[in-house]
Amino acid sequence: MREPSVIELSRSALRQNLAYLRQQIGARPLLSAIIKGNAYGHGIDVWVPLAEKCGVHHFGVFSADEAERALKVAQPQSHIMIMGYLPDDEVAWAVDRGCSFFVFDAGRLKAAVGAADKLRRPARVHLEVETGLHRTGFDETALEEAVDALKEAGDRIQLDGLCTHLAGAESSANYLRIQHQLEAFNQITEYLHNHGLDPRWRHAACSAATLSHPNTVMDMARVGIAHYGFWPSDETRMHVWGKNALSLGSVQQDPLRRVLRWRSSVMDLKDVPPGEYVGYGHAFMASRKQRLAAVPVGYYHGFARDLSNLGHVLVQGRRAPVAGVVNMNMMMVDVTDIPSVRRGDEVVIIGKQRRSQISVSSFGDLTRDLTYEVLVRLPADIPRIVVG
Ligand SMILES: Cc1ncc(COP(=O)(O)O)c(C=O)c1O
Repeated sequence: MREPSVIELSRSALRQNLAYLRQQIGARPLLSAIIKGNAYGHGIDVWVPLAEKCGVHHFGVFSADEAERALKVAQPQSHIMIMGYLPDDEVAWAVDRGCSFFVFDAGRLKAAVGAADKLRRPARVHLEVETGLHRTGFDETALEEAVDALKEAGDRIQLDGLCTHLAGAESSANYLRIQHQLEAFNQITEYLHNHGLDPRWRHAACSAATLSHPNTVMDMARVGIAHYGFWPSDETRMHVWGKNALSLGSVQQDPLRRVLRWRSSVMDLKDVPPGEYVGYGHAFMASRKQRLAAVPVGYYHGFARDLSNLGHVLVQGRRAPVAGVVNMNMMMVDVTDIPSVRRGDEVVIIGKQRRSQISVSSFGDLTRDLTYEVLVRLPADIPRIVVG
């Protein structure tokens, strides 16, 4: 293995997460796996075929370049939905490749009709409407014009979806705002229906909404973080799973299992006498004769420099603290109390080793990064391999 670290993806964990999500949403709604941000750091190229093997055939990406990456590895029957960036001059490409895409302004709608004309095949669009997030989406006035344009376009536009995005379903502080968004969404649905426009899928739910507000799922759940095995927030976890665990009166296993495990190895070992500084500057001084292991993972690999003297890794199933500052490509960890450590031993940066575990959220607790941020920082060039 030439690379200093590897990310393992567990097929059985993904299967478990998908089964749990399916149980939550019921048999009918479509589950779209959101794979933007390099599949939340899990790696689009490996994730798409893995998810397909687990029964997923609908994927949501942010941009045209992500769609292109997904298409390269996806089976012909899988579908790619572009939810964000798609320049007008790439719309024909998307139509030609059979991708659907969100439409939230008149320019893109016009480009979609133009592309459909040129290619003589309908453009598959999801009409994104403004309901209160104030990010992207047609507001009331623009919607009237969009409806006229859609009626005029006729069968050049295939209305795959009517959609919106909710303003923070992972926190109950946003409960009322979300209810207002749903009301607005229902009114818009009716308005479209009255104009003879009935989208195939109505969708609004991300992971948190899928789990905490099941009424937002409608025809499709756009699930990102949860299918990778992470709760969108502690609040969602307590609301959905903690409640069940308590009512059953016993400790239940977390129904979501982290798919990702990040491992490296001990590159070198060094004994340092008391009073000596380790690494750059004066961040860490050996307080006794200490044994330090060099691990070839640094901030270049997404291990935050903020974890200097703070983070931990696992070696031989035990926690070893980061000693001194995290460097670009390596860090030193204190293995004084794990005397049997040898060069080449496995080092786990995220995930389980024997009975111990380092969670992504433990990074977040120390650096105030969201789980999402820690994951997407994992560089694309770390190899991803699928394990059982
Ligand atoms: C439009 C849209 N839908 C769905 C998602 C999935 O969100 P989550 O990872 O919280 O499930 C995102 C991610 O931010 C999004 O932007």
